Amino acid sequence: MIRRPRRLRGNSILRDMVRETKLNTDALIYPMFVVEGKNIKNEISSMPGNYHFSVDLLLEEVKELIDLGVKSIMLFGIPDYKDECGSGAYNENGIVQKALRAIREKFGDKMYLVTDVCLCEYTSTGHCGLIKGESVDNDSTLPLLSKTALSHVQAGAHMVAPSDMMDGRIGHMRKTLDENGYEDIPIMAYSAKYASAYYGPFREAADSTPQFGDRKTYQMDPANSREALVETKLDIEEGADIVMVKPALAYLDIIAKVKATTDVPVAAYNVSGEYSMIKMAIKQGLMSEDVILETLLSIQRAGADIILTYFAKEIISLMNN
Ligand code: PBG
Ligand code: ZN
Repeated sequence: MIRRPRRLRGNSILRDMVRETKLNTDALIYPMFVVEGKNIKNEISSMPGNYHFSVDLLLEEVKELIDLGVKSIMLFGIPDYKDECGSGAYNENGIVQKALRAIREKFGDKMYLVTDVCLCEYTSTGHCGLIKGESVDNDSTLPLLSKTALSHVQAGAHMVAPSDMMDGRIGHMRKTLDENGYEDIPIMAYSAKYASAYYGPFREAADSTPQFGDRKTYQMDPANSREALVETKLDIEEGADIVMVKPALAYLDIIAKVKATTDVPVAAYNVSGEYSMIKMAIKQGLMSEDVILETLLSIQRAGADIILTYFAKEIISLMNN
């Protein structure tokens, strides 16, 4: 008797029946960039199809996203001024805080609001933490990150996502949130965040290029995989509710390993470089837009429960039609 796997492929109804993975569009988080000012919707040249929005136009976009079926967004803020201690990150009238209050006021819980918690968009150095001497000082950065997270939650964030990669920040942040009565606010930790060239287009979008050095002293070495398990384990012990692997495509093995060795939901960030590569290739006619679904499916198949992706809006409109 010859086993013929292709017998299952000849009929489209049967193909649908035996399909192992179906993209869960309810599990997509759409990252967005908010800027100061009014009436601004400027396309980000390194990431076609993504924009810098001022709060007024962000509200219109969020309305459209809700109608389309996008369930969650993650906000990044681009402030008007930067300083050494990144004070715009935890100012109650900071750009993210203003955007959060406006969205919550208008749409309540209809859009699940996540914020990226980091200092690099707000520091004049472009680093994710405070500089002492020539390097980022881990421990003096922690209170500022916690303050940032708390101010996001006070302004209406449903969940916070620290992306800085300082050691001990999850425990510190959990304690701060709990002490202020926010025991029910989850933390999605960027746990296995690699020092990656795939963040290139984002640095233009967020104006967060380090002014000296690089992020290799706090982000992970792409050559390591067991280290990702150390990082995720520590974050879970410190109170992370969801752990994230970032980037996604060059790290599908890491997603699979983290999924196999932890018992909390796993998120993966399909980052700016992955987005722009694919987007440019589609624009050039090198690949059809089917590649978007194929790519997101690969991330889900590897084990991601949640996918952060700049394709969220596009794939949901493609799938609606
Ligand atoms: C800030 C942050 C970065 C990204 C998310 N949060 C940039 C970085 O760490 O250099 C990258 C997102 C992307 O490339 O899409 N710490
Ligand atoms: Zn940062």
